[in-house]
Amino acid sequence: MKNPFRLENKIFLVTGASSGIGKEVAIAITKQGGKVIITGRNKERLGGTYKQLVDYKKNYMDTYDLENIDGIANWILSIIHKNNIRLDGFVHCAGINILKPTMILNNKELDKSMKINFYSGIELLRCLGRPKISNKNSSFVFISSVGGILGELGALAYCTSKAALIVAVKTAALELARFSYRVNCIAPGMIETPMLKQYKNLLLEEQISALPKKIPLGLGNPNDVANAAVFLLSDAAKWITGTTLVVDGGYTCGGRLTN
Ligand SMILES: NC(=O)c1ccc[n+]([C@@H]2O[C@H](COP(=O)([O-])OP(=O)(O)OC[C@H]3O[C@@H](n4cnc5c(N)ncnc54)[C@H](OP(=O)(O)O)[C@@H]3O)[C@@H](O)[C@H]2O)c1
Repeated sequence: MKNPFRLENKIFLVTGASSGIGKEVAIAITKQGGKVIITGRNKERLGGTYKQLVDYKKNYMDTYDLENIDGIANWILSIIHKNNIRLDGFVHCAGINILKPTMILNNKELDKSMKINFYSGIELLRCLGRPKISNKNSSFVFISSVGGILGELGALAYCTSKAALIVAVKTAALELARFSYRVNCIAPGMIETPMLKQYKNLLLEEQISALPKKIPLGLGNPNDVANAAVFLLSDAAKWITGTTLVVDGGYTCGGRLTN
C-alpha cells in the first residue's frame, strides 16, 4: 500500500530555502522522495542547501528577491516552462522580522514586511494555483507565526503580515477547492534559526535565558517545522485545508508560570 506521507513524483517550490526553516523544509521534502525548486537571495547559501538535497542534481535552484512582486510571475513561470515541469504546491518560508515599536515604525518598513511575508506569497499562489501549472491535489503552505495569533512587543509589522496569512488561507482554501487544491498555514513558535538569533541580539542576557522557560517543550528547531510542512504537503493531509497548524512546543497554550 502506498505510504500517504511520502512525496514521490511531486515537485514543490520552497522560498526562503537559503536559511533556517526553508532550508530544512527543502531537505525534508527530498528525504520523502519529492523534488524541489529552491529559492532565496543569497546564492552561496542557497547552493549550500542545494548540495544537501537528496539526489541534488534532480532538483532546481534559482535566486530571486521576492520584494520585486511584479517580476514574480515571469520569474517562476519561466523556470517551470524551461524545465517542462508541473508543480504540486509550495512552502512559502521567506520572511523578515522588522522589530520596531509601533510609534516609530514607518510605512516603508510596514510595506517591506508585507511585501516579503505576505504579498509575495499571495502572488505565488496566483501564479501557481492554476490547473495549467499545478497538478490536482496540490498543497500550498505558508509559514506564518504565533506572532500572527498573539502579537509581540515591537513587532507590529511582523505580526500583522503573519496574521494576514492566517486569514488569507481560509478564503484561498474556499476558492481553490474546486481544483482539489489545499491551502494552509503553519504557525511556528520560537525556532533556533538566524532570525531568532537576530531577535536575541536585541535582548538582555536574562531575557534570553528566560525565553525557553516560556515554552513548555523548550525552543524548537527547523526540523520540527519541516516535518509539519511535509505532512501538510502530503496526501496524508488530503482533507485539511484553510487551517493553521500551530507548531510551538506549547507556547500558545496559556500560562507563563514555570515549574
Ligand atoms: N525562527 C523563528 O523563531 C520563526 C518563528 C515563527 C515563524 N518564522 C517564520 O519562518 C520563516 C523562516 O524563518 P527563519 O527563522 O528560517 O529565518 P531565516 O533563517 O532568517 O531565513 C529567512 C529566509 O527568507 C529569505 N528572504 C528574506 N528576504 C527575502 C527576499 N526579499 N527575497 C527572497 N527571500 C528572502 C532569506 O533568504 P536570503 O537570506 O537568501 O535572502 C532566508 O532564506 C519566516 O517566514 C519566519 O517569519 C520563524
